[in-house]
Amino acid sequence: MRRIGVFGGLFDPVHFGDLRVARAAMEQLALEEIVIVPFQAPASGRAAAPRRDRLDMLTIAFSGVQGIAIIENEYEQTLAGLTDALRAVRMGRQDADIFLLMGTDQLHSWLAQRNSLPVLRSVNVALFYRRESSDEARLRAMALNVRVSILQMPALTISAHLARAQIGLLSDAPEVLPQPVAEYIALQGLYKPPYAAMMRSQMTQKRYVHTLGVKDTAVRLARLHGASMQQAAVAGLLHDCAKCLPIGKLNALARRYTPDSLKEFTTGALLHGPVGAQLARVKYKVKDPDVLNAIHWHTVGRAGMSVLELCVYVADAIEPSRKDYPQLSEIRTLAQTNIKAATLKAMLATRDYVLSTGQGYLAGADALGDLQQQVG
Ligand SMILES: [Fe+2]
Ligand SMILES: [Fe+2]
Repeated sequence: MRRIGVFGGLFDPVHFGDLRVARAAMEQLALEEIVIVPFQAPASGRAAAPRRDRLDMLTIAFSGVQGIAIIENEYEQTLAGLTDALRAVRMGRQDADIFLLMGTDQLHSWLAQRNSLPVLRSVNVALFYRRESSDEARLRAMALNVRVSILQMPALTISAHLARAQIGLLSDAPEVLPQPVAEYIALQGLYKPPYAAMMRSQMTQKRYVHTLGVKDTAVRLARLHGASMQQAAVAGLLHDCAKCLPIGKLNALARRYTPDSLKEFTTGALLHGPVGAQLARVKYKVKDPDVLNAIHWHTVGRAGMSVLELCVYVADAIEPSRKDYPQLSEIRTLAQTNIKAATLKAMLATRDYVLSTGQGYLAGADALGDLQQQVG
């Protein structure tokens, strides 16, 4: 008889715990296949991520794992939904022996529902534990003649809740999330305020396209060079948040929030960096100092830039919608391997451009010196 696992959940988002459960079940129960059932979010408590994104993250997380099928149909996380999902799994898999994978907390909540016993008795329940969970549900289920086996694996200490909390703090949650899932979350802006939508209403279409390009590029550079992709996404989305302000408003905000920068950042074109950082802090409630610095210094750079600041600076210079300039392709190539050298080249290109327009180049002198020393 074919042995098929069924693993239901919200997967909001899928995390290493889910992968460990699937692997343990596959090996220990000698399963031919595990069917993943991403349940519909309950109408009460909202799902944090849209269904399409939860499915895409599952596909990313399980890519390369043999014997995994992800169900596209939407089932409620209710007894009726579970019954329908099991019927769908059995269809085309006649005579399959079904192993329903679940945490003890889930078993507890199924047992609390009326009429759940026929469904639970129609399958084998394969249980895993979370650190805080008790054995009560298993003992009750066994007393009620539900076939229960225990997956031999350490109790899970991570959860989707923990993943969302860490992402909210702009960490890539490396202990909880596979890196490609964290990257997806950064690129799609999940589990964070909707900064992209906020920017769209604040800028021209062209500036918005540039903004998305900087976000995507900064995320990829952050992954390559070991900065947080979540920080890179937020800094990329907000870096030009003050760019489309009328000059009068820009100056007024500078006088109010960052008067020192008026001396240093002499033109409106440069001032949108420090003013943007203050807008990000005050209006968009960003607290992360590294993100605020990346926004502040994205126009001229500074000595001692963090890896995140370098990634955002370079992303601004090389994002896909950038109009071509002499060193562009060289900087793009360099950015893949040496972010400091790429930053230096981008700064020199900016200086050459500004000088060629007849303006004196004042800003960024110490940033240039610092990088020249480091890159050698
Ligand atoms: Fe800018
Ligand atoms: Fe920009």
